[in-house]
Amino acid sequence: MLKQGIIQDVRARQVLDSRGTPTVEACVTLENGVQGRGICPSGASTGAYEAVELRDSNSGKYGGYGVQHAITNVNTVIAGELMGKNVLDQQSVDDRMVQLDGTSDKSNLGANALLAVSIAAARAGAAFLGEPLYRYIGGISARRLPIPMMNVLNGGAHAANNLDIQEFMLVPLGAPSFHEGLRWGCEVYRALRGILREKGLSVSLGDEGGFAPDLKNDEEAIELLLQAVETAGYKPGTDFLLALDVAAAGWQNGEEYRMPKRGVSYTPGELVKHWINLCARYPICSLEDPLGEDDWAGWKKLTGELKNIGNYQIVGDDLFVTQAARLRQGAENGCGNAIIIKPNQVGTLSETLQTVRLAKQVGYRVVVSHRSGDTEDAFIADLAVSVNAPFIKTGAPARSERIAKYNRLCAIEEELMYIHS
Ligand code: PGA
Ligand code: ZN
Repeated sequence: MLKQGIIQDVRARQVLDSRGTPTVEACVTLENGVQGRGICPSGASTGAYEAVELRDSNSGKYGGYGVQHAITNVNTVIAGELMGKNVLDQQSVDDRMVQLDGTSDKSNLGANALLAVSIAAARAGAAFLGEPLYRYIGGISARRLPIPMMNVLNGGAHAANNLDIQEFMLVPLGAPSFHEGLRWGCEVYRALRGILREKGLSVSLGDEGGFAPDLKNDEEAIELLLQAVETAGYKPGTDFLLALDVAAAGWQNGEEYRMPKRGVSYTPGELVKHWINLCARYPICSLEDPLGEDDWAGWKKLTGELKNIGNYQIVGDDLFVTQAARLRQGAENGCGNAIIIKPNQVGTLSETLQTVRLAKQVGYRVVVSHRSGDTEDAFIADLAVSVNAPFIKTGAPARSERIAKYNRLCAIEEELMYIHS
């Protein structure tokens, strides 16, 4: 008997993300009663080229951030089109939604509507076949756990402190397994809290669960992380390397870059030099969005210069927005050598996988990522394993929307270890 997971119903509802902002949850129900759910996350330092998150901007509710229009789109247009279709054909499900939307930026139906349904369809398909989600998406080759890039100090648009760099991350590159790396990261996070307390600095948290103290400068932030690594009994440079997400698109001010909090300005050339100096002084292995999303020339210059001095990962987030066309442009011009994968930047799972395939073809490393406004949906944990992503960004080991992904990855690791033992 050939199997067909026929879609009987598609429903959406408004739920809340980790900032108390509404977002879309979708549920796909199959004829045999099997269901799958998906929730769309939401960014704060959103790239200009991301697919559009549809919001009820003219409503007085939730300050105009409601998503009732997106929900209506799921319950009417999208549901009407998908009912009776086979959920196992994820590509067709996603293609139909993209066609129905009909715009290049998903502004008609909303990328938040599309992604919630796309994730829900994948989960329904996996449940229908009785497979774990990561294996349903990635098949038998899905077997590698990502290394966590843990964002333990928050700045930029994610915190009300005086740091302009958005994320200071710990990368446990020396750890022998995912769960050991996670443990190491938790221990350093705890040590960092102790150091901040001792210094009389704030231990309040930013949007991704990292601490958000006011500090003298970015160098002090880096030095605090290194001190915490040592206090916890690890070696900076071998056990742990550091990663930064600058989110410099938010610094662009005409031809120059202006740090919004400190008010310091750089020309693109000066900013490139600044990053090269910082990489030379500290054990940094990865720099994300060190330049703005339209500064292809700056990206090319920095990528070329860093290549000459070491093996650095230069990651495009707002630059590529998980979209194949922008990644191709970057690869052709020598801009960066890695890409952030955030499914809601493009709108569907199939388009996300298409971008991941291209990244592998052009030799760019993949970093699967959460959003600063996230939820209990741990979809990206399964996604990261399904594509054998070398890295995942899902915040500090704090707050349940971040921990949900870490916990899911531990469960997947255990399952894979059992299978491969
Ligand atoms: P965002 O931040 O989710 O607010 O866009 C995450 C990132 O820039 O990587
Ligand atoms: Zn980023």
